[in-house]
Amino acid sequence: MPSTSTPDPAASAAPAPLPAEVAAPYGAAIPATAGRIRTHHLQAAKDNGEKFAMLTAYDQYTAQIFDEAGIEVLLVGDSASNNVLGNETSLPITLDEMIIFSRAVTAGANRAMVVADLPFGSYEQSPGQAIASSVRLMKEGLVHAVKMEGGAYYAPTVRALTQAGIPVMAHIGFTPQSEHMLGGYRVQGRGEAARAMVEDAVALSGAGAFCVLMEMVPAATAMAVEAAIAVPTVGIGAGNSTTGQVLVWQDMAGLRTGKMAKFVKQYAQLRTVLADAAKAYGDDVRMGTFPGPEHTF
Ligand code: KIV
Repeated sequence: MPSTSTPDPAASAAPAPLPAEVAAPYGAAIPATAGRIRTHHLQAAKDNGEKFAMLTAYDQYTAQIFDEAGIEVLLVGDSASNNVLGNETSLPITLDEMIIFSRAVTAGANRAMVVADLPFGSYEQSPGQAIASSVRLMKEGLVHAVKMEGGAYYAPTVRALTQAGIPVMAHIGFTPQSEHMLGGYRVQGRGEAARAMVEDAVALSGAGAFCVLMEMVPAATAMAVEAAIAVPTVGIGAGNSTTGQVLVWQDMAGLRTGKMAKFVKQYAQLRTVLADAAKAYGDDVRMGTFPGPEHTF
């Protein structure tokens, strides 16, 4: 679907080449990790017709495992609300809780870019509120970028954040923080709404967002968005034309039970693996075969 919006010069201008990265010039308590994924690497992926992978992570071990597996971007999603804290939606999670999860993930990730969600209630009031919340995620959670749900209405907020030195990933399409407004989990950007979605992406990337994430969007709409903006896109349930893909790790690895969304592919059955391990341990304890002599001082 062709873009019907006015071309945005800021969004389509070719990025200026960056000077080569040098070792941290002011010293650091921990030696700078070589090869951290930066926003310009994601931009290069789009420019070169390559793809990158993103997974959620909420703790140090999954962060380490995914980082070592070569996942380029780790998302400390506010989906920690449902997937870790057991809430029904992503709405109850607080900024303080997001900071704790962010700190754990950044502790485990040497190479991946770590992006944290601005949770519901932490940015909507004003660009100033968004900056204050993002600064806490970056100073206390040590993340490298923030993700923010919402369309063109939030372009001034994205501009304020990027001018403050905070990289922003915009999140459009189905935005879980607005699920009560949207009437539940529904595909967004069908038919006439596709044009508005392209306009949202153009406005947000024009305001400085380094990437636009689309959730539950028809593949044709996602393709139109990817074509309309210069920055990379990430999809979850948005087809195969986006620069990157993201999944919630418990869905991807089969830890969660219940009906999976159509866009989920399970690459493992971790729930079965863990359940079998727990059963075997329980049996050993009850039979008195654990601990054995080799586990005893
Ligand atoms: O919080 C989250 O996990 C997300 C993904 C669904 C993209 O925003």
